[in-house]
Amino acid sequence: MFDFITEEHTMIQEAARDFAQKSIAPIAEHFDETGEFPIDTIRQMGGLGFMGIEVPEEYGGVGMDTLAYSLALTEICKADASHGTVMSVNNSLYAHGLMKFGTEEQKQKYLIPVASGEKIGAYSLTEPMSGSDAGTMKSRAVLNEAGTHYVINGVKSWVTSAPYADFIVVFTMTAPEKKHKGVTAFLIETDKPGFERGKKEPKLGIRASATSEIMFDDYQCPVENRLGAEGEGFKIAMTVLDAGRIGIASQALGIADAALEASIAYAQEREAFGQKIGQFQMIQQKLADMKTRVEASRLLIYQACLAKEASKKTGARYSLEASMAKLYASETAMWVTTQAIQIHGGMGYSKEMPLERYFRDAKITEIYEGTSEIQRMVIARSLTGLR
Ligand code: CAA
Repeated sequence: MFDFITEEHTMIQEAARDFAQKSIAPIAEHFDETGEFPIDTIRQMGGLGFMGIEVPEEYGGVGMDTLAYSLALTEICKADASHGTVMSVNNSLYAHGLMKFGTEEQKQKYLIPVASGEKIGAYSLTEPMSGSDAGTMKSRAVLNEAGTHYVINGVKSWVTSAPYADFIVVFTMTAPEKKHKGVTAFLIETDKPGFERGKKEPKLGIRASATSEIMFDDYQCPVENRLGAEGEGFKIAMTVLDAGRIGIASQALGIADAALEASIAYAQEREAFGQKIGQFQMIQQKLADMKTRVEASRLLIYQACLAKEASKKTGARYSLEASMAKLYASETAMWVTTQAIQIHGGMGYSKEMPLERYFRDAKITEIYEGTSEIQRMVIARSLTGLR
């Protein structure tokens, strides 16, 4: 139907579906319940190449395109959004940033182990008092007199994968008076002195993905671990988030796909008032609207993937396409999972079925990597050129 979907795309989609349904779906409920981090299946995903899909083979990845990444991520999230969160951060927020802004030495040391799935990466922009308003961070990096190290101090929050991450791309202020032009990005090794992890956040959804604060107390970061130039950090953070937002849109689509499939099956089986509930117009209307919104999300995601691919050649921004895909797919996931619970009635509300997990997992897609309000702001600004 779409000639941009090639045989290779279908192959990676099927490989992801196969692994997700055989190895992740059966354990998803357990890890959601306990909040444990599913390290074994995360490592297996790395072994299959899912942690560096767009990274060239010489840097440990599989050298495919954004559409391949999105198709595979959607399949993983259909089984479990928590596994998808780790995959999305490793691929888009971490590996994409290193590929685009890293030096050759940084790629050798910090990209290869993450893209090949041996190590876990993370991305840290948010602080306790700096979320949507990302240019107002309080953490500081100061270059020492010898010019060899930056000394980093401060607290960063809501860092996905932080409890298990080996390396983290951290954004902090080197020149606070310059506001967002004073933000610089650094590559942090989490086993060095001066770095500490806070307690794991207890979360409503994506409970098997681990999130925590991280604290810096005179952490010594060598100058060669600066990612990009001083003051370039905000642009790096935003550029990387554009890629990340396609990942979160794909995650939302996977959750919505799973909720829709379960609802269709239930409507075909469950009987009330002497007929299948799928014969009632009110259920039919829900299913029709769910399917239409899911497919509209998929098309916006395809558009964003193609825009990102084009940007690899032209360098053009694809913020508009990425934000539209994330906004629509995440709100669709929330809406579709709400309808899915309604169709299932009491069973939808019960932990006997995965519907309530899909509903809890969907919510984060409207919040992280930019809330729906921020996506609307990005979309409107890109239409008017006004700030
Ligand atoms: N690509 C490249 N450059 C960009 C850009 C983009 N997508 N967006 C903005 N910029 C540039 C602008 O061009 C501007 O550059 P100049 O000064 O040279 O003109 C500069 O960055 C500042 O831009 P704005 O004036 O638009 O900045 P702002 O302060 O108004 O903020 C914003 C814009 C869109 C609201 C931004 O702050 C934003 O996206 N906020 C949300 C942050 C976010 O998504 N946080 C989630 C963190 S990750 C996470 O969720 C956790 C996890 O681990 C998964």
